[in-house]
Amino acid sequence: MNFHVLTLFPEMILQGLATSITGRAMDKGLISVNTVNIRDFSEDRHNHVDDTPYGGGAGMVMQAEPIFKAYGYLANHIKMTNESNDSYKKPRVIYVTPQGSVFNQGIAEEFSEEEELIFLCGHYEGIDERVLEMIVTDHISIGDYVLTGGELPAMVMIDAISRLIPGVLNNEVSSEFESLQDNLLEYPQYTRPEIFMGKRVPEVLLSGHHANIEAWRREQSILRTYERRPDLLEKADLSENEREYLTRLIFQKNYDVY
Ligand code: ADE
Repeated sequence: MNFHVLTLFPEMILQGLATSITGRAMDKGLISVNTVNIRDFSEDRHNHVDDTPYGGGAGMVMQAEPIFKAYGYLANHIKMTNESNDSYKKPRVIYVTPQGSVFNQGIAEEFSEEEELIFLCGHYEGIDERVLEMIVTDHISIGDYVLTGGELPAMVMIDAISRLIPGVLNNEVSSEFESLQDNLLEYPQYTRPEIFMGKRVPEVLLSGHHANIEAWRREQSILRTYERRPDLLEKADLSENEREYLTRLIFQKNYDVY
């Protein structure tokens, strides 16, 4: 998977992703991260890439031209690297914006199927709408809050997409993701020592009884999801017994209130 980021802060993207699992994935050639500095395409003698908004109002708006040129440069570069491949298709261009659809595991999976992905990171009060209409295929937000720019959201998405690419995680870790796919949160985890400041590891985990451990973990997942993310339970695939357990939890909670 080749990630490309149109940004005013390339070093932020490159430094942020160069460590840990994404860094290793880059070293192994499983992913690549390429940045294009929008400022390099400014025609202004002071290298400006923004101007005041037509119609007035606070803040500055990023101009269409440097972004369009940066995109054109990148599109040519991607096209060249794909020349041997007849099935060239225009890469998706993701505009990272709080006005987009909210990113989730399903969107991460969909994006992980692509060969090339372009992220466009904005700053200031936004980007001239005309260039967005011309190049953007997807508007994506990482949540209902406003950040100072698109670089952190782009990094969040690149991280979430990268870990879905075969070979990026080892198998042990990748199973962790399975439970989110089930719309259940992960069960609690423990490691040595057996007693930490008087708190014991749950007995069942020391029993060596795999079926009991599995059952306990599943119950804990349901309990945790019910307590922390009840909205997910509607879509969770629960057995008859698990539904009964959930009903008991709900009943218990209502009972506790009175
Ligand atoms: N840019 C600023 N805030 C953002 C958000 N929440 N998601 C995506 N891009 C953004």
